[in-house]
Amino acid sequence: MNEEFRIISFDPLTADDALWEKYFDQTEAYYRESNPGEPMLPRAKKKEHSLAAAANPYGKTYDFLVLGPDGRAAASAYILAEKPKSPTYEQNKHIGNLHGLSVLPACRRRGLGTALLRHVLREMALKEPQFTELMVPSAMESGHRFLAKLGAALALEHGENRLYLKDADWAMIERWDAEGVRRNPGTAVLSVSEIPEADIRDYAQAFTETINQQPLGALNMRMEITPEQIRYGEAKCREQGLLETTVYTREADGRISGLTGTVYMPDLPHVVRQLLTGVRKEYRSRGLGKLLKARMLLHIRREYPGVKFVATGNADSNAPMMAINNALGFKKHRPVLLYTLKITPELLK
Ligand SMILES: CC(C)(COP(=O)(O)OP(=O)(O)OC[C@H]1O[C@@H](n2cnc3c(N)ncnc32)[C@H](O)[C@@H]1OP(=O)(O)O)[C@@H](O)C(=O)NCCC(=O)NCCS
Repeated sequence: MNEEFRIISFDPLTADDALWEKYFDQTEAYYRESNPGEPMLPRAKKKEHSLAAAANPYGKTYDFLVLGPDGRAAASAYILAEKPKSPTYEQNKHIGNLHGLSVLPACRRRGLGTALLRHVLREMALKEPQFTELMVPSAMESGHRFLAKLGAALALEHGENRLYLKDADWAMIERWDAEGVRRNPGTAVLSVSEIPEADIRDYAQAFTETINQQPLGALNMRMEITPEQIRYGEAKCREQGLLETTVYTREADGRISGLTGTVYMPDLPHVVRQLLTGVRKEYRSRGLGKLLKARMLLHIRREYPGVKFVATGNADSNAPMMAINNALGFKKHRPVLLYTLKITPELLK
């Protein structure tokens, strides 16, 4: 890398306004390139989210910028590490999640991306010495090529799928809801913004059970959520003005059978993000998955009239979820490939 470029750590807690502007100029340029035409969060809101992430007791973010001779940020990257307080720390502590590694188009193919990655790895060897591999999502051809050159292995084909509400078959959605209720007379269907205290323990278990049943390809990781983390997430949403909705089903004996969740950001009123949808194994094939998805879509139509589409992420190999989503009219918007990169002595040089 040309010595006129300088790699620095970007710390949201101490960065001055001028550095924040450089950070936004670079990261927003990459966002516009990888998400053409998509509205972006206002800078003040993004800053608020970064500051909140810095206080997360379960995870830690390390941000980096490459400053060029003209003083602008030419590249950036950030890496997420689980903290020991995370319930999955023991299982996942060897993995660093590398996100947003990007070089401004005018500065590409000059070794900046490689130099930044090596710098990040050397820093991690000091700060997170337990890392043995990186998990890296990549949505652009240049990213796939770059990662292939470094020896990364493709672990999972993933993607963002979208349902545009103007294309939704509302008669079918209403039918799925009604049929689901009829086929499951002893099942309560609840829509909440916060999980009731009486259900939170079993809800956390149902979430953990089902999220780990989705196909993860060659990824060697485990996910888990605890009641404390659910409450932490709810408090964060309240502070940041995000609207969270959970629809879940509870059987007559009190056990949670299925769940789905969404988040709506008033600053991005065109989209609702749908998170995990899961039905416990023993309650499958009773129409609960369709019922949960349908009930949530009816909620979105009623509560958020400005929403244009619902976005959700799935592994391409997740046949049951893809079947429901395809029937609803979800379409692949953006393929995302997840790579793993083993941290070798060669990469640390
Ligand atoms: C991926 C990215 C960060 C690479 O940055 P860069 O500074 O151009 O990378 P380097 O110059 O260090 O490239 C190292 C090697 O990767 C490979 N490579 C990088 N970009 C490539 C491309 N567009 N086509 C083919 N090979 C490519 C080449 O083998 C290159 O070596 P070479 O130039 O000697 O042939 C940059 O293209 C980018 O910002 N892309 C969009 C963001 C992205 O996809 N990031 C996510 C995944 S990491």
